[in-house]
Amino acid sequence: MKKNDEIELVCTDLSDQGFGIGHHEGMTVFADNLLPGEKARVKVIKLSKTYAIGKVVERLITSKDRIEPACAQANRCGGCALMHLKYDRQLDYKEKQLKDLFHAISPEIEVLKPLGMAVPYHYRNKAQFPVRIQNGKVEGGFYRARSNDIVPVRECMIQSEKINEIYQWLLDHLSLDQAGSLRHLLLRESKKTSQVQVVFIGEKNHNLKSLAHKLVHDHPEVASVIFNLNQRKDNVILGDQYEVLYGQDYIAEKCLDLDIQLHFKSFFQINPQQMEVLYSKALEMADLNKDDQVIELYSGTGTIGLLAARKAGYVTGVEIVPEAVANARVNQQLNGIENARFVCMDASEFAAKKENQADVVLVDPPRKGMTRQGIEDICALEPKRVVYISCNPRTLARDLKEFASRDYQCLKIQPVDMFAHTTGMECIALLVRKNPVQDDRQKESVPADNQLH
Ligand SMILES: C[S@@+](CC[C@H](N)C(=O)[O-])C[C@H]1O[C@@H](n2cnc3c(N)ncnc32)[C@H](O)[C@@H]1O
Repeated sequence: MKKNDEIELVCTDLSDQGFGIGHHEGMTVFADNLLPGEKARVKVIKLSKTYAIGKVVERLITSKDRIEPACAQANRCGGCALMHLKYDRQLDYKEKQLKDLFHAISPEIEVLKPLGMAVPYHYRNKAQFPVRIQNGKVEGGFYRARSNDIVPVRECMIQSEKINEIYQWLLDHLSLDQAGSLRHLLLRESKKTSQVQVVFIGEKNHNLKSLAHKLVHDHPEVASVIFNLNQRKDNVILGDQYEVLYGQDYIAEKCLDLDIQLHFKSFFQINPQQMEVLYSKALEMADLNKDDQVIELYSGTGTIGLLAARKAGYVTGVEIVPEAVANARVNQQLNGIENARFVCMDASEFAAKKENQADVVLVDPPRKGMTRQGIEDICALEPKRVVYISCNPRTLARDLKEFASRDYQCLKIQPVDMFAHTTGMECIALLVRKNPVQDDRQKESVPADNQLH
């Protein structure tokens, strides 16, 4: 097989990146937009020693699981790499991939069925659209997968309808001067309170205040408009400095029955409907009781920690973004929760403090997962259980091995589909100590042998 060869490929599986997998002359070939059961003429566009990448030239056999993607740009934009596959089959493949991944660590880990959505469209509550001027017109869209090219998009089928509507309004009303100084538009919506936040991100504020007022006039649900100054040369989207153009720098959100104040710099789960499923399951797996001291690392605006505090003795949340910690403290007050505190600190640094104690540790790190030292420090706290929430199964698998080498065994994994049509999957892992030390409470509650008679 050589580069530019055209081969016939039978697809037998799907990779975790959404590529169809086939074999040709002993080589594994990955091809975009090809499903298991399909056969296609494929042009080899990249060849390495162990695998090849192909582009489908003509599909010869079509899978019964293939559907017309709900978005015309799905194959170009790359965000929804699985939109051409029936949703229930997406869940089946994600389940299989997770089983392959986690059973390679231990066949005893129980990987449960992913919890999917009844209506898997328009679920996202946040969008970051890159903006540019193309042929004298303001254009926005999404980056093509693995590139800096922008695929122009005016409507996204996984974004909330309100975000699409306001995004289109912005594209139609931004002047060339205004758009020319911007890099991104960030939009966030709370489905529950209907409040919307718009953040203009760029190098210069070109009279954006008057645009903000026009926007609020036409869309009164916009409760907060911000200009965020970003003159960096890297890929980081938000800069440090900002100016409030309308309202406050936060919007009101809700999660289950919690009232949440949400700053534009604070993390919040992007699928609010599935977020409630995720948190409810995570708390069920944590199995908290009123004596439990809980540490929640990577606590964001405190959502999980505050829900946990209703069941536990005391919760300490640890988060590195000051705005998110400030939100968490306000959220604690808004919801009248007294048995919790939120600390602004690096999670690993906090876990390393010898005076900390925890019966249960909840962790929900970013995609890159945890550090080896952080895992070691959590294990040194000797919690009975660790509940690890992860949006990246690969780093979760790596970290579960680290935990296992320190006597914390993963019993089960509950996947929750937060990212329908994309290759992403959120997982909750329950870990327990293999050889639990009896703690003082247990010792006191077990009568001595001579008291039993
Ligand atoms: C996946 S989010 C989870 C947030 C929260 N648990 C939730 O569900 O909304 C990860 C959080 O970790 C925070 N973070 C990132 N690196 C951190 C670090 N080294 N120490 C503490 N928090 C960190 C991020 O700011 C973000 O809020």
